[in-house]
Amino acid sequence: MIITISLIWAVVIGFCCCLWLALGIRKRQPGEPPVENGFIPYLGCALQFGANPLEFLRSRQKKYGHIFTCKIAGKYFHFLCDPFSYHAVIRQGRHLDWKKFHFSTSVKAFGHDSMDPRHGYTTENLHQTFLKTLQGEALPSLIENMMENLQSVMLQSDALSPTTDRWDVDGIFAFCYKVMFESGYLTLFGKDLGNDKKAARQEAQKALVLNALENFKEFDKIFPALVAGLPIHVFKSAYSARENLAKTMLAENLCKRENISDLISLRMLLNDTLSTFNDLSKARTHVALLWASQANTLPATFWSLLYMIRCPEAMKAANEEVKKILESSGQRADPSKPQLTLSREDLDNMHVIDSIIKEAMRLSSASMNVRVAKEDFLLHLDNQESYRIRKDDVIALYPQMLHFDPEIYEDPLTYKYNRYLDENAQEKTTFYRQGRKLRYYYMPFGSGVTKCPGRFCSTRDQAVSGTGALLF
Ligand code: HEM
Repeated sequence: MIITISLIWAVVIGFCCCLWLALGIRKRQPGEPPVENGFIPYLGCALQFGANPLEFLRSRQKKYGHIFTCKIAGKYFHFLCDPFSYHAVIRQGRHLDWKKFHFSTSVKAFGHDSMDPRHGYTTENLHQTFLKTLQGEALPSLIENMMENLQSVMLQSDALSPTTDRWDVDGIFAFCYKVMFESGYLTLFGKDLGNDKKAARQEAQKALVLNALENFKEFDKIFPALVAGLPIHVFKSAYSARENLAKTMLAENLCKRENISDLISLRMLLNDTLSTFNDLSKARTHVALLWASQANTLPATFWSLLYMIRCPEAMKAANEEVKKILESSGQRADPSKPQLTLSREDLDNMHVIDSIIKEAMRLSSASMNVRVAKEDFLLHLDNQESYRIRKDDVIALYPQMLHFDPEIYEDPLTYKYNRYLDENAQEKTTFYRQGRKLRYYYMPFGSGVTKCPGRFCSTRDQAVSGTGALLF
């Protein structure tokens, strides 16, 4: 009896293995990049890639060259490692779909209905909504509100008031997360102070935001796993954290708040007029925006501040720059009257602080740019080679490979605060590889049409927070 059961199991397992070999493994066809299927069915190389993406990609680049294919969580990713060929992908609009991956990832992670008009839940052009509310004419008021909120969170709260004797001591990480999250949250979602603007209401407001931060952190921890395709129900506490966030963002709660940003008010309007989303789905679209606005900003601010504090030359140069900018606008740093106003021009002239932030982001950011092939097509690379790409395959650029390339950045692991300053102390924009000028050398915000729409707001927010941290 035992032998029969074992035999049945052996046949079933053998059959599954044959099926996997026949269907689950891709054989490289002529003209295609070298392919690595990995050893685990469905996951392929996901675990090795997830453990250390940079090391994984470098080792495969050494083995296969500029382009290779890896199976990751059921999809075939073509990794392109030659920065001179990036343009081919970034501009290859006709054959590549940038929306498919973004829309499906957002649905998987945040649980709202699809924002892709092709799926019939909304007719909105989401990309246009972002451009309209985060750039151009919308930018000055966004930056002004962020500046006001940052100063009020940093200085007018009881915890950090420099005019009192009592100081709370916190690590830089906790400090950056609390200050940036609270100011970013208030800038996007406004304040719920009602008619009673007294201390108790302010405290309740603060408690709500700090509670949102805890939920945000719990959810953010598992975000890479969600992108890789694991269902959120596997992670119970992250799921409830996401749902707690969504509850606070139901229309009945948001409508009590004042000074809501254009991004969120337009989101509310379009959810109500152009979509068939239910209330929870609408609230989850706001969670997606909260996540997009904070997930990169918080670590970027932490790393910028940490690297700067640990480098005396960077501190000195940044202090001098801030002093000069303030003097030129007739302002003085006075912690008892912390109302600094930095114009957009002032912020754009802070080249030292800009370089400090860029260098920290070069060392710390690890985003991936992806596009999905709409059809079978031939991808032409810079070195005149062409490769066949199959429909629904993913083409991926991994900017950390640029950021840590010793041919582009000398001593790539060393922090050099002035790396992005030229000899005239202006922004440096010329970087070379093998003697050729690079078009793409710095990509923490993505590239082309999918480039982060909040990048102008984000870099200026970080400049303001850096200035505040230096002054007070
Ligand atoms: C240091 C800060 C930030 C970094 C490094 C960053 C980076 C990114 C990256 C890499 C993407 C994906 C681009 C792609 O897929 O190619 C993205 C998308 C996005 N970011 Fe940011 N971001 C930052 C801050 C912000 C802020 C402050 C906001 C909003 C106020 C924001 C709003 C968005 C939105 C809405 C998207 C989705 C765009 C789309 O799908 O069309 N980001 N960001």
